[in-house]
Amino acid sequence: MNEILDISITKITETRLTETDFAQLPFGKVFSDHMFIAEYNDGAWGNLQVLPYGPIPMSPAISALHYGQAIFEGMKAYRQPDGKISVFRANKNLERFNKSAARMSMPAIPEDIFMQGIAALIEIDEKWVPAQDGYSLYIRPVMFATDPYLGVRPSDQYTFALLTTPTGPYYTKALKVKIETEFTRADEGGVGYAKTAGNYGRSLHPFAEAQKEGFDQLIWTDAVTHEFIEEAGTANLLFVMDGKLITPSVRSTVLDGVTRDTILQLAKKAGIAVEERRVSVKEVIEGIENGSLTEAFAAGTAATVTPIGEIGYNGKSYVLPVSTPDNISNSIAKTLNDIRYGLAPDEFGWNTIL
Ligand code: COI
Repeated sequence: MNEILDISITKITETRLTETDFAQLPFGKVFSDHMFIAEYNDGAWGNLQVLPYGPIPMSPAISALHYGQAIFEGMKAYRQPDGKISVFRANKNLERFNKSAARMSMPAIPEDIFMQGIAALIEIDEKWVPAQDGYSLYIRPVMFATDPYLGVRPSDQYTFALLTTPTGPYYTKALKVKIETEFTRADEGGVGYAKTAGNYGRSLHPFAEAQKEGFDQLIWTDAVTHEFIEEAGTANLLFVMDGKLITPSVRSTVLDGVTRDTILQLAKKAGIAVEERRVSVKEVIEGIENGSLTEAFAAGTAATVTPIGEIGYNGKSYVLPVSTPDNISNSIAKTLNDIRYGLAPDEFGWNTIL
């Protein structure tokens, strides 16, 4: 049995719940009353606290700001039919967080701090977990380097924080995406597989350019040839071709998505053929043209399962079949949601009930 950690608790004096409209929850804008913080100093984590959500005092010289030593995760807590709260695949997110930490020369976060921090925070902010269908409490773990030092080397001090934000789906309609062939997201030997701030920072300009052309999101291709599909800006990508579920294999340039992994496991269990391999732009475009590609979708914690309705490539537009409730992606999404919301047995042991 794990040791019970000493977490100091400072509660807000007045909740913001009363002024929060749970019918209007744009992703990532409304934060719950509290946050969790831990600090890393002299080679150890300590000073564990749940405290009111708000600004954190910091030096303007911290190395996270200057050199991007910062990582994050995204996970969700779901209201169960009996009113309890379940966190989905927290261990898998912790595993990836610590892989990102290792790549960015940051200390690992111990499992007990991660899990007990989440439990302590959600216990206090329990009422912030929405009950509406399709809604959840998004949990954002983040770690950043806090040495106030301008020399370029791994920091000695870090802050780990857990923020929570009640939310609905990140996307609310089928996406129009552009296959990006000029800018790149990640290259071999780089940090593409890590959930580090810079991967998102470098994507913003190409994303803004694509938005000007009317696209909702980008499909990143490999940095060397631009011939192979890697992932979307906020999610992994999956395709249904000839009835098979096909997705770019995880490699050093592709994020090992928790939702992606979950979908693949559910698809295999449902007897759907699954292929994890390099996926070429050519086969996707030809598949749309000859009708063998019937579905394309983005999958991520924030994105959930979002169909792709149109793909732009080299100035041409390719329209996909309209997503139907009983197609492969929506059927898997339904099974996945039933497990998350406690409406179907959790055969894989993915839910942590708080
Ligand atoms: C998530 O799905 O949790 C993510 O981290 C994507 C995010 C950048 C919105």
